Amino acid sequence: MSPQTNPAGTTSRWSEATQQRAREIIARYPQKRSAVMPLLYLAMSENGWLTEEGMAEVADWVGITPAQVQSVASFYTMYKRERTGTYLISCCTSISCMLLGGDDILHAVEDESGVPHGETDADGEISVEHAECIGACGGAPAVQVNYELIEGLTPEKARELVRWLRSDKPEVVNPDDMQDRFGGQRSFDWAIREEGGATGPYPAFGPFGTGRES
Ligand code: FES
Repeated sequence: MSPQTNPAGTTSRWSEATQQRAREIIARYPQKRSAVMPLLYLAMSENGWLTEEGMAEVADWVGITPAQVQSVASFYTMYKRERTGTYLISCCTSISCMLLGGDDILHAVEDESGVPHGETDADGEISVEHAECIGACGGAPAVQVNYELIEGLTPEKARELVRWLRSDKPEVVNPDDMQDRFGGQRSFDWAIREEGGATGPYPAFGPFGTGRES
């Protein structure tokens, strides 16, 4: 815990590295309240999910009320306001995936992990959710682990994925690696291999939480 104070003049609950990242993000915007969404991801990276304290800290940094921060956080499903496992498995059950066995994939993940969708296991290791279209219809059925994509799964490959997460406990989940291990038909050739990956159950796009930067 850093002793530094945040812009509201109270002692920050965040690590020094996270505070520095917050300062860099806020400096990009003409008005600091515009930084509320990326700072919510920072708050998630501190705890793995959005705690009340994390949202209050964001409010202190961007100069709005905790209620205003919560109104943003509660609107988007990718802001997790309950404890989320180290690995968040999102199974698409929208139309393209549903027609190609998306529900079977979800049931295989639930059965193998012992975690019903919307819940997290007792060890805080795996969370399971069903997701609306994740933009990979051409590679249906598709799944994400910590928002990193795998296309063309089968129920058996989905079970292997769960067993792999539990046994290998990868620090970074890399989409190309997971596609090679568990995927099938892709929507298109991704062409460039991704060297980074996600380090936590929060989006890994931009500079937040990518394996390359960590
Ligand atoms: S319907 Fe599953 S990725 Fe679009």
